[in-house]
Amino acid sequence: MEKVRFTEEKATNLATLYGRALDYRSAHPILGDKAADDAVRRIDYDFTKIGISPDRAVSVVLRAKPIDDWAAEYLRDHPDAIVLHLGCGMDTRFQRLAPPETVHWYDVDYPEVVELREKLYEHAPNHTHIGSSVTDFGWLDRVPSDQPALIVAEGLTMYLKPEAGTELIRRLVAKFGSGELICDLFNRTAIKIQKLNAPVRKAGATLYWGVDDPRELERYGLTCESSLDAGHWATPDVLAKMGPMTRFQLRMLKVFPALARTAHIVRYRF
Ligand SMILES: C[S@@+](CC[C@H](N)C(=O)[O-])C[C@H]1O[C@@H](n2cnc3c(N)ncnc32)[C@H](O)[C@@H]1O
Repeated sequence: MEKVRFTEEKATNLATLYGRALDYRSAHPILGDKAADDAVRRIDYDFTKIGISPDRAVSVVLRAKPIDDWAAEYLRDHPDAIVLHLGCGMDTRFQRLAPPETVHWYDVDYPEVVELREKLYEHAPNHTHIGSSVTDFGWLDRVPSDQPALIVAEGLTMYLKPEAGTELIRRLVAKFGSGELICDLFNRTAIKIQKLNAPVRKAGATLYWGVDDPRELERYGLTCESSLDAGHWATPDVLAKMGPMTRFQLRMLKVFPALARTAHIVRYRF
């Protein structure tokens, strides 16, 4: 068993990991992430205090699923891509997508998070960990830029200060000839009401960066290809796997679109 002492934003990755493990244990999993469940079983931590109920776990995997699908599509079209998985936390996306050996995948998070990943997850030759804040930009020098880039940042942007986040985007766009950025964004309301977000509050983390309209980021060199507010994350096949309570909650997002607009997942091209 590995002891963890993550605090603040680092501790939030245990909540999303646990959400994916609960999904794996459910009768009708959406992601079916066995590696997440295996990791939870090897971490010495009281996951029940983390603010993730089975209902909340659904929202974790509802966000992850379209991001996985978009990322898989990019890798099908670009089997030679470089993947930057920013603020990866304990996410096992590399295992879920199982990219071909021609893809080189970089998982980036703070050093203590990367240290735990290296203890728990198997090494693969095309998989590198970088222990750094994504906004200490020196880490970018360790990544080649001669291939198309897929940049995935799930559950990261909202923890960055806006100036640092936009500078990160500028540098990524300047470094790579072409690529896609797939990320999620909270709007300014979600930042204002962050105390209602149990996993964030319980971790003692602070959210800073709210973006109301995904097209706001186009001024940093991105083109918005697709964006889905939280009311549109569940596809019909995914909806069919959900219990009546979750389906009711998702219907509420349609009745109150302002609620759905608190979070988007977005696919940008550059
Ligand atoms: C909500 S968790 C999401 C983790 C993972 N993407 C997932 O979906 O499970 C937020 C993650 O962002 C990381 N993070 C926040 N700010 C960061 C920064 N400046 N540099 C690197 N990682 C950061 C945290 O350490 C944490 O692992």
